[in-house]
Amino acid sequence: MEQTKSKKGGFTSAIGFILAAAGSAVGLGNLWAFPYKTAENGGAVFVFLYVACVLLIGAVTMICEIFIGRRAQANPITAFKKINKNLGWIGLIAIVVPTIIVCYYSVLGGYTVRFATNSFWGNADNLGDFAGESWQVILFTAIFMALALVVVMAGVKGGIEKASKVLMPALFILLVAVVIFVLCLGEGVKEGLSYYLIPDFSKVSFSTLLAALGQAFYSLSLGMGAMIVYGSYTGKEINIVKSTGMICVFDTMVALLAGLAIFPAVFHFTSKAGIDTSTLDLNGIMLMFETLPKVFESIGYIGNIIEFFFFAMVVIAAVTSVISIIEVASQFVIQKFKISRKIAAGAITLITFAVSIPVSISLGYLLTGKAQMTIFGLDWLSFLDTVTNTIFMPICALLSCIAVGWFIGPKQAINELTADGNKFGKLEGFISVMIKFVVPVLIAVIEVFGVVELLFPNGNFDANGLGIVLVSYLLFGLLIGIYFLFIKERETGTNADELLK
Ligand code: PHE
Repeated sequence: MEQTKSKKGGFTSAIGFILAAAGSAVGLGNLWAFPYKTAENGGAVFVFLYVACVLLIGAVTMICEIFIGRRAQANPITAFKKINKNLGWIGLIAIVVPTIIVCYYSVLGGYTVRFATNSFWGNADNLGDFAGESWQVILFTAIFMALALVVVMAGVKGGIEKASKVLMPALFILLVAVVIFVLCLGEGVKEGLSYYLIPDFSKVSFSTLLAALGQAFYSLSLGMGAMIVYGSYTGKEINIVKSTGMICVFDTMVALLAGLAIFPAVFHFTSKAGIDTSTLDLNGIMLMFETLPKVFESIGYIGNIIEFFFFAMVVIAAVTSVISIIEVASQFVIQKFKISRKIAAGAITLITFAVSIPVSISLGYLLTGKAQMTIFGLDWLSFLDTVTNTIFMPICALLSCIAVGWFIGPKQAINELTADGNKFGKLEGFISVMIKFVVPVLIAVIEVFGVVELLFPNGNFDANGLGIVLVSYLLFGLLIGIYFLFIKERETGTNADELLK
């Protein structure tokens, strides 16, 4: 009975769950942020630190999050309430934060859709024109969100699992095809690979480790409710430890491969065109939407095809990520208010779309330099990104580990997981110590340093940074207050409620 229940509304197979979770994990963070962060932070040294962070810290946190969702078979608020009634606010944060992320992630998603569809008509040098035409950006953001919405509306089994089973293998094939093509370009490939990977110890410092850790959390979709929610749709037939291993390996592989495509392509272009690489923007938004289109289009017609493949792949990666974060709030609204999935997902998408409009206009202003629309000195996208990634994501991941390590207890957690068929063997003691002490301390360090960096960028106090920190912690306090005033004593629903309808 237990099994049929979990199967009815949730993922139907281990591979379905793994691909959906990998779909959440693999996103702009892998295809775009990882490569340039690697190049910026000392190449192979950064890769090594990153892999260590994924294995030692990310994987442990992911096991905790999936486990929290799985044992509750419910949305994050109910899941944390089940651990301890006074912890339900962590679930509220885990629902609100990803919903904020949808508002800016979708704008970038809209950009990728525009660049994919326009691959054959020339994207190079068009970033400014496109970003400056607000209605166009809004339109493409709407298309991007509609793609995600259709999948979320179709449900976990009929939408998310089905789509992931097709899209994730497609993404992987596209990526491998693009990598092979680029590595065969000849000229410049070697230089690109060395720019990407040759270890440069002079660029490594304590902050490199923090960057690796932060990137690992973001890339694995941790600290944002997504893994708790997907975990809640799994039953005992799914081995959490093994699945986590596979999700981490897949996510890391995609990130590494993305760099193998991007930098050799860029260096091929520069050496052919006789351009000095240092004049090209290899970081941030420019790398993906300005430098890469130039590179692809300089290769001629084949370049256009590769450009299309590349952006199609980015669209897939971004859509499957945004699906997982729209699902977080949708699941809660469905369960708490007992309304239909279509209405819940539709309402959430509409609200986040409305917020994405000023975000896209602000980003457009930044990219065209025509006017300013900032909060605490940042464009709206960077502001929301900073608030969610720097402040909230570590807190939320930290609290998930504390909930498992200190409230459920590592022994009890490991017993429950072992009863479900997970095997820890000799690692049991090690994992207990990691969950209870090491991982929480390391995440707390990321949080503290993230805040210090905001307050004192380059060593000098920054009032804007203080504003961001204050606003974030105010929101944090507000959410805790809302929980204790309005949610704690009320019914917050379970997956089963959804199935009864
Ligand atoms: N992991 C995704 C990426 O790498 C981003 C993401 C964050 C997705 C949070 C879902 C939740 O881009």
